[in-house]
Amino acid sequence: MTQEMFAKLPQWLNLEQSDHMEKPINTIVSGKIPSWICGSLYRNGSGLYKIGPTAWNHLFDGFAVLQRWTFKDGTVTFQSSVLDSDDYKKSAKRNRIIGDAFGSKFPDPCETIFSRHSFHKFVPSKPEKIDNTSVNIVEFGDRLFAMTESPLLNEVTPDSLKVKEKVSLTKHLALHLGTAHPHILKDGSMIYYGTHFDYCKAYNFVSIPTQPESSEATFEGAKIVATIPSRWKMNISYTHSFGITENYFIHLEQPLTFNIPRLMMMGLNGTSVAECMVTQQDETMDIHVINRATGKRTPITYKAPNGFVFHFINCYEDLNHIVFDACFYPSGTDTIKKKYLDYLAHNFTESYTTDEAAHFARFVMPLKFDEKAEVDANLVTLPYTTATAVIKKKGKNFVYLTPETIEESPVVDLPRINYDYNGMKYRYFFGTSAFTEGKQLSKFDLVEKRALTYDAEKNLTPGEPVFLARPGATKEDDG
Ligand SMILES: [Fe+2]
Repeated sequence: MTQEMFAKLPQWLNLEQSDHMEKPINTIVSGKIPSWICGSLYRNGSGLYKIGPTAWNHLFDGFAVLQRWTFKDGTVTFQSSVLDSDDYKKSAKRNRIIGDAFGSKFPDPCETIFSRHSFHKFVPSKPEKIDNTSVNIVEFGDRLFAMTESPLLNEVTPDSLKVKEKVSLTKHLALHLGTAHPHILKDGSMIYYGTHFDYCKAYNFVSIPTQPESSEATFEGAKIVATIPSRWKMNISYTHSFGITENYFIHLEQPLTFNIPRLMMMGLNGTSVAECMVTQQDETMDIHVINRATGKRTPITYKAPNGFVFHFINCYEDLNHIVFDACFYPSGTDTIKKKYLDYLAHNFTESYTTDEAAHFARFVMPLKFDEKAEVDANLVTLPYTTATAVIKKKGKNFVYLTPETIEESPVVDLPRINYDYNGMKYRYFFGTSAFTEGKQLSKFDLVEKRALTYDAEKNLTPGEPVFLARPGATKEDDG
C-alpha cells in the first residue's frame, strides 16, 4: 500500500475500520425535510479500502459499508457499518486483506509455500464465491439484501446493519455471476439476471417468487425463465444491469467481455477479475429483446455503436417500438481502467474530478419492420425522438441503431426513476456526475429534452439520488 497514493485520494476513500458509527447519531439538518418523509434510507457501497498494511487496488473492490439514514418528524439519524461478510471477517481477523475482488487478489498468507503450489491452485477461481456484497441494497418483501455481482446475497438486519443470513442462488441455479440491480415487479416478485461461463447459456433471466413471511429467505422457487447464448465462444459480455418492459426483457451484449480461458486460469495465474476482461474492438453493442412469456429472443438483432453501459435508466414499449434509455460511456475498457485507485490518485484534479464521462443515450428499436424497407431508411416512426434504426442489407434481421442524445446534457450516471414507472413510458430521471467537473445532481426531463442541475457544495460529492414519491402524488415527479 502506498501512503502517498492514498494521500492524494479523497477522505471517503481513506476511511478506517474505526471510522464507522454503528449506533445511530443525530445529524445537523439544513433546510427543511418534508414531514411526510418517515422511514429509513439504506445505502451500500465500497467504503473500506485499507486493512493493516494492505489496500485494495480498484474503486469497486472496497469492503461494503452500509449506511442508514432514518427520517422522523424532520429529524435525521445516521449510522454506518462495515458489512460483516465472510470476506471481511477473515481479513479483519488477520489484520490484512485476504480474498479476491474485482481489481485485486490477496492470497491467504497462512497457506504454506507447498499448499500454494499444490494441485488445488489449478482449480479455477470462483468469482461466484465473492461475498463482499458492496454494490447495492435491495428491499425484497420485508427483507433487505446487500448485493454484488456474484450470486451470493447477504440478508441484512435493518436495525444493526449486520448480516442475518447468507443466501446462495447457486443452490437453485447454475450461475457464475449475477447482478446487483434486479427488478422488483408490482406483484412483489423479483426478476434477477445471471451470467453462466458456458457461452451456449451465457445470459439468464431468473424469476424469484415472493418469499413467505414466516420462513427464512431461501429463494425457493427461483427459476431461469429465459436463456440466450453469447455471440462469442470464448467471451461473454459484462452485464451490470438490464431492462424490463411489460412484455420483454432487454439485455445488452456489450463489447466489454470476460474472456473465459482467462477466467478459468485466474487461480493459477493469480490474476484479478478485471484482468480477465477484454474489449472486442470495433464490435457493436447488441441489444437483445426477449419475450417474457416464451423466453425466446425476438428475431431481430439490434446493433448499436461500440460503447459501454453500467446502468439502464428505463425501458418501455410504445407503438410497436421499444425505447431503451441508458447512461452511455464511449469505451468500456477505459471506464474500468480509470477506476483503479492509482489512476484516480494521479488523475484527480484538486476537486477530485476526472475526465470520465457518461451521457444520456436513447435507443429506439422497432419491433417489426416491412420486408420491403429500404436500406438506410429510418424505421423509427415515433414522433418524439431523433434516434434512428436502419437496415444495411435487405433480407437480414440486423437493425443498426444510432441513439438520441440531449444537447449540452450534463454528465450523468447512477440513474434513478420514480420506480412506479419502471418499464412504462416515463418522463423524468435523476442522476449524478460524482467524479466530473461541477459535481452535480441532475433531473432530466425527457419531454422537454433538458436537464436541471444542482451543484454540490465544495468538497462534497453527490451520491446516487433516490426518488421518493409524496403520498397521494399523481404527478410522476411529485416527490
Ligand atoms: Fe450499479
